Amino acid sequence: LLNPPRHEVPVRKPSFQFDKSIPNHWIDDNVFATHVFNGLNLVFPDGERFFIQAVRDRLRDDLEPALREQVKGFVGQEARHAHEHERYFDTLRTQGYRIDTFLGHFRRFIRVSTRWLPAPLRLAMTAGAEHWTATLGAAALRPGVMTNLDPTMERLILWHALEEIEHKNVAFDVLQATHPSHLLRVTGYVIATLLLFGWTGFATRMLLRQERLSRTEIATERRRMRAQAQPAVLRTVRQSALAYFRRDFHPSQIDDLPLAHSRLPDIGLADAAHGITTEATPAA
Ligand SMILES: [Fe+2]
Ligand SMILES: [Fe+2]
Repeated sequence: LLNPPRHEVPVRKPSFQFDKSIPNHWIDDNVFATHVFNGLNLVFPDGERFFIQAVRDRLRDDLEPALREQVKGFVGQEARHAHEHERYFDTLRTQGYRIDTFLGHFRRFIRVSTRWLPAPLRLAMTAGAEHWTATLGAAALRPGVMTNLDPTMERLILWHALEEIEHKNVAFDVLQATHPSHLLRVTGYVIATLLLFGWTGFATRMLLRQERLSRTEIATERRRMRAQAQPAVLRTVRQSALAYFRRDFHPSQIDDLPLAHSRLPDIGLADAAHGITTEATPAA
């Protein structure tokens, strides 16, 4: 696909009230599910700044102007995600979780990686991580998947998920334009996968330890979370994760933008000022 259609990547500024109304266990009163998402929350801000840096470092003047426009949107969206997820850290602190030691380690890791890893590899890792955020975002946006959670956190997740889908081709296309190597792309993807799940896993375990629950209690909550997962959604996630290895893969082959935009009204962002048409919205 030489010149894929370039849609707008708008930067929205929704406001979130992260206050005391958010319960400690805000997903389905499930401690395990909540800390999986809290774990992601902890790695997002610095992770997303790593992505922004990686894309900026390979941005060249001879890139297609429409792609450069999308890069601006990508940078704006990711900066906004980092900002809002970081604001949520204070809620975690207020809830009594000690997160700063973990954050210190993670920040140091990101700083060292940004400094020492070659720029093409960092961009390939970013494109790979973005494939994950788009894949998981599409799963989260499917109606009926994110149920029974705190409304503020639900809006945060849906907003982030839909913008991940909007800008999912950006890092990928910059990578293709600057370093069109399949080996580099899949290497970056494998590393990004290990790091994303590894660091999120550390964060989740760190938070779960602070709950002082027995192993059995945690296992029960984990089972309860797994029982909620829809097999069709898990299958789609698996297919999408594997599709990235194909030589002819391009993010636009997974057509989930209509799904993403159909959720705009659910987060109160359906107005025309954002440059989004909502034709894809199914009649209620
Ligand atoms: Fe993001
Ligand atoms: Fe992203």
